Amino acid sequence: MPTPEEVKNILDKVLVPDIKRSLIKMNLVKDVSVADGKVDITIATAALMKTAQEQLKESVKGQVAKLDGVKDVVVNFADIKPKELNKIKNVIAVMSGKGGVGKSLVASLAAVALQREGYDVGILDADITGPSIPKMLGISSRPAMSESGLMPVPTRSGIEVMSINLLLQSDDDAVIWRGPLIGHAITQFWEEVLWGSLDYLIVDLPPGTADAPLTVMQTIPISGIIIVFTPQDLTAMVVRKAVNMARKMGKSILGVVENMSYLYVAEIDKKIELFGKSRGEEMSRDAEAPLLGQLPIDPELAKLGDEGNIEQYNSTMYNAFAQKLIKNVPK
Ligand SMILES: Nc1ncnc2c1ncn2[C@@H]1O[C@H](COP(=O)(O)OP(=O)(O)O)[C@@H](O)[C@H]1O
Ligand SMILES: [Mg+2]
Repeated sequence: MPTPEEVKNILDKVLVPDIKRSLIKMNLVKDVSVADGKVDITIATAALMKTAQEQLKESVKGQVAKLDGVKDVVVNFADIKPKELNKIKNVIAVMSGKGGVGKSLVASLAAVALQREGYDVGILDADITGPSIPKMLGISSRPAMSESGLMPVPTRSGIEVMSINLLLQSDDDAVIWRGPLIGHAITQFWEEVLWGSLDYLIVDLPPGTADAPLTVMQTIPISGIIIVFTPQDLTAMVVRKAVNMARKMGKSILGVVENMSYLYVAEIDKKIELFGKSRGEEMSRDAEAPLLGQLPIDPELAKLGDEGNIEQYNSTMYNAFAQKLIKNVPK
């Protein structure tokens, strides 16, 4: 007769439909008991559609019945909400003083770096008014859902994503929501999405230092912040505002990233500082946090972003950023 542990090992190979991660990784197995050759398994229903429940029941029964000494397998479902099941070790928010500096791109690249390192990673797109995360990562399918919750949508490499863009009918549906509604959507993304067990949840914050990012920081327990900026004139002031806001909220700054730092022209082997002199060191000093990277303007990166293929990106500067990020994130 198998032990409950042995049954759980099998359940760690049963994949949840729509998400392609195991029942165990999604924290859906609530109870396993074994007595007289009978195995009783209780699975949480959170965000599982009826069809997904039926599918799971069948595969669980099939797999567990193969274990030596098992005569009967009973699968029960318990109505438990995602909020009670999620185990997220670290939430990292990506912030910028203004829009268009590459915040979403850096958020995606950070997620990719951590995922490549072998961590379980998700992205919560909290930039409700300009959600661009799904496009960069090449996903567009509607999240599966039930009355008790929503499933994230996995990218090709298995990063879990939730974004308002995935819930709207078309990419072009403008989101003109009032503040309180935005706050509500973010709360739902935090509480009602079945994230399961994650090492890192990357949050793409709304740009700026006004109400929207503040609401997010009050809703979600953020463990550290990454600040993204470009070398433009006003950036220094804007970054200082972001630093002040983070400090006021009692959040630690994990590091700063200078994006669009320069353009490298191979033909003349020259770095052109298109947006002005680099301010990486200065910003790092101001934020009292390490400079995690200086990413150049890279046409290849822009192309991959447009095509939804960010996960394929590789470059020397990106790898340097990835290494430094991994060193500086909370474990
Ligand atoms: N380093 C870079 N090289 C090339 N294109 C970039 C770079 N950073 C950002 N972009 C492009 O600029 C646009 C804005 O970036 P995005 O991350 O959406 O900005 P934000 O989220 O700050 O508004 C996107 O099309 C993105 O692909
Ligand atoms: Mg963005």
